[in-house]
This record gives sequence, C-alpha cells and structure tokens, in this order.
Amino acid sequence: MKHFINLKDIPIKDLKKILNETKKRKKARKKLNILETDKDVPLKGKLLVQMFEKPSLRTRLSFYLAIKQLGGGTLTLRPNELHLGDGGESLEDTAKILSTYGDGFMLRTDDNKKLESFKNFLSIPLINGLSPSSHPTQVLSDVFTVEEIKKKSISKLNIAWIGDSNNVLNSLIAASVKFDFKLSIGCPKNYNPREDLLNWAKTKNKNIYIYNDASKAAINADVIFSDKVISLNDKVNKGKKLSQFKKFIINQKLMRFAKKDCIFLHCLPRGSEVDEKVFFSKQSKVWLQALNRIHVQKSILLYCFGKLR
Ligand code: CP
Ligand code: NVA
Repeated sequence: MKHFINLKDIPIKDLKKILNETKKRKKARKKLNILETDKDVPLKGKLLVQMFEKPSLRTRLSFYLAIKQLGGGTLTLRPNELHLGDGGESLEDTAKILSTYGDGFMLRTDDNKKLESFKNFLSIPLINGLSPSSHPTQVLSDVFTVEEIKKKSISKLNIAWIGDSNNVLNSLIAASVKFDFKLSIGCPKNYNPREDLLNWAKTKNKNIYIYNDASKAAINADVIFSDKVISLNDKVNKGKKLSQFKKFIINQKLMRFAKKDCIFLHCLPRGSEVDEKVFFSKQSKVWLQALNRIHVQKSILLYCFGKLR
C-alpha cells in the first residue's frame, strides 16, 4: 500500500511514473467531457473519502473529478460532522471505520501530527491534501505543468520562488532534490526556509540558493513561483508580515530580471504578492496550472491504489 504524504519520502522513479501516466491520460481524454470516465475505468467502484479541516476549492474539486474520471467516487467530510475530536471518538477508531468503508483517505489538516497518526491507524492509502508543512499534490502537479509548457525536463530549467517560506515552498524544495533542478528562493531575511529541510536538501542538491532580494532570485529564471504571504495556518500579525514582503511583490519590473519567456505560476488562492498586470499577463499560466491538478491527482490515485501501469 502506498501513501502520498511527502515528496521527500517518495522514490523519484515513482514520481516520474506518476507524471508519465498523467501525460498519457491527459492526451487520451482530449475529446471527453469533464464527467465522462476514462475508457479503462481503472478505479471502478472505488471510494475516496476526503476530509477538509481548512477551506479548499481546487484540491476538493480536482480529487472529486479525478476519481470520477477513473470510475470511482468521493465522499467529502467536514471534521465537525464526525465524532472525532470534540465528539470523543478516538482517531484510531475513526481511522478503522474509514478503512472499512473507504478505499483511500485524502486529508487536508492544520496539524502535521494528525497525518502521522492517521497513517499509523489506516489500512488504506492516505493522501496529504495540504498540511502546515507541505503541499505535495500541488507541487507534483506544478512540475507537470512546467514540463508541459516548457517541453523539457525541469532539471534543465531555472526555477525561482519569490515569497513566503511556507508549505508549498517546502514541497518545492523537496521536489528540487527529487527532480534535480536549480531553485533560487527570494524572501525577506526573517523568512528564510526551514533550516532542517534546507540542510537535508542542500546535501543532495547543490543548486539551491537563498537571496533576501527578489531581483537576485529572479535573474535568468525560466519559471517564477509565488504564493500567498498569509497562509491558512498563519497565526501572525498580518499587517506587519505583509509590509515585510512589500519588496517581494511580483510585478513587471521584477519579471524583466527573468528570461524573456519566463512563466509565472501560483497555486492560488492569491493575495497581494503578485500585481494584476503580471497575474493576467501572457506569462501567467495559473489557469492551466490549476486545471492540471485534476490530471495529476488521477495518477496519484492510481499510484496509491496500486494501479499505475
Ligand atoms: N491550490 C490549492 O490547493 O487550492 P485550494 O486551497 O483551493 O484547494
Ligand atoms: N500556502 C497556502 C497554500 C494554499 C493552497 C496555504 O497554506 O494557505
């Protein structure tokens, strides 16, 4: 049984297999409507239970559509609809019931430990749909989008992240190790990435650079990523944090430091970290990026369900 919890723990050959499968399936369904199933219906009769402890638009819909296109279905739970937590039912019992009724469990949580606990008690695959410390399904999908647009391996590209050192960046750092690409990070001084993760990554990828200057991170970039300054789990003085990121807003002046054909990506939802001119420019590929979540989730599901060809 395979879980999909952190990119760091998934072998690169499996990650590449997931992306290859995505390419084939995306191509094969060009003429199909969104709710039509893939011809081989590989997950016919399977149920993915998903639970969101925090808001979600894209992850929720993309998993719903992904398993639907593979022939299965989803059931979406809100934590306050269960007995778990305040209701007094233990996580262990909850996990056992989920494993009895469902075939897979996708969890978006505000507690990293909860992922670990569910992993220990579930006997079905667990997928991390965002935690305070990572967002692996997003970043794997972003690797797919980059390679689809640039038509080359991400290992040959200069990737820049300009913004907060958050869960999405943590997964991007892990991806830079797995897929071996150059990663330049631009963030304010007090917001450097997590030291333990960085130390681990730097022993495996010599091409990770941190700049406390946005323009330096953007130089020669093929792709510039950003994300909200205030994440869902952020319990900070919002006004203060936003003002510390003023010099890290992605605008056209900053984009000019990058390559001419540099693209802009953002997992969404957005805040004020990108100005509208860039966000709605031709360089911005955020809508394709969001759409690709469906295609990549499908292969992640097949991987977890042991059906990857
Ligand atoms: N990018 C992303 O995960 O979006 P949602 O929070 O809407 O799921
Ligand atoms: N970093 C953001 C990502 C949202 C998809 C958050 O955690 O809120």
